[in-house]
Amino acid sequence: MLCRECRSIEASKTKKRVIDVDAPLNMDADVTDLTSAVDKFFDAWKSAGFQPVGHIVFRKTYSSSSMFLSYQHEQPYLLAKGRPPLPKRAIADVMDMPYSGNKLHPTQKPIEPLTQLICSFTLPGELVLDPFAGSGSTCAAALLTGRNYIGMELDAKYLNQASARLARVSQSNS
Ligand SMILES: C[S@@+](CC[C@H](N)C(=O)[O-])C[C@H]1O[C@@H](n2cnc3c(N)ncnc32)[C@H](O)[C@@H]1O
Repeated sequence: MLCRECRSIEASKTKKRVIDVDAPLNMDADVTDLTSAVDKFFDAWKSAGFQPVGHIVFRKTYSSSSMFLSYQHEQPYLLAKGRPPLPKRAIADVMDMPYSGNKLHPTQKPIEPLTQLICSFTLPGELVLDPFAGSGSTCAAALLTGRNYIGMELDAKYLNQASARLARVSQSNS
């Protein structure tokens, strides 16, 4: 777990909005598997008290894989618990997701779209959780926009790379 000035996990339960831009979903599965994977996600979110309140299209200029179609977009869901306040200015639900170069992780997200999401749905000083942190892009975006963060990563190699990256970002930002 990566943590900067983090409050406890308990504190994160009081946060009302969640967007998981990168929860693993196997796009190579066949259509039946994909439907059942989506059902599983919805069931899990609902049992945790969240409701989908929108989805975003991340438009890419490259294909991450190809099967029935050449996949050039990702579709993260926006989840809400209760009735959180609306953002001051709603951002568009179609966002460009340029190629990051994947230098630290095979599915590394670029920072810019993540900062837009964080700024739309949180205030400075609030807490951003990325339970699938990879190279720590979401945590870096949180750091750069004055938010606290908690990142979780299963793979020790990426955990170490993300920790080193965040130390660099923190230093260059101070
Ligand atoms: C799609 S990648 C995230 C990439 C990240 N957005 C970035 O910009 O680098 C998902 C990551 O989640 C990690 N992961 C998968 N299952 C996990 C779990 N149960 N707990 C923590 N990390 C997990 C994987 O090791 C992988 O690095």
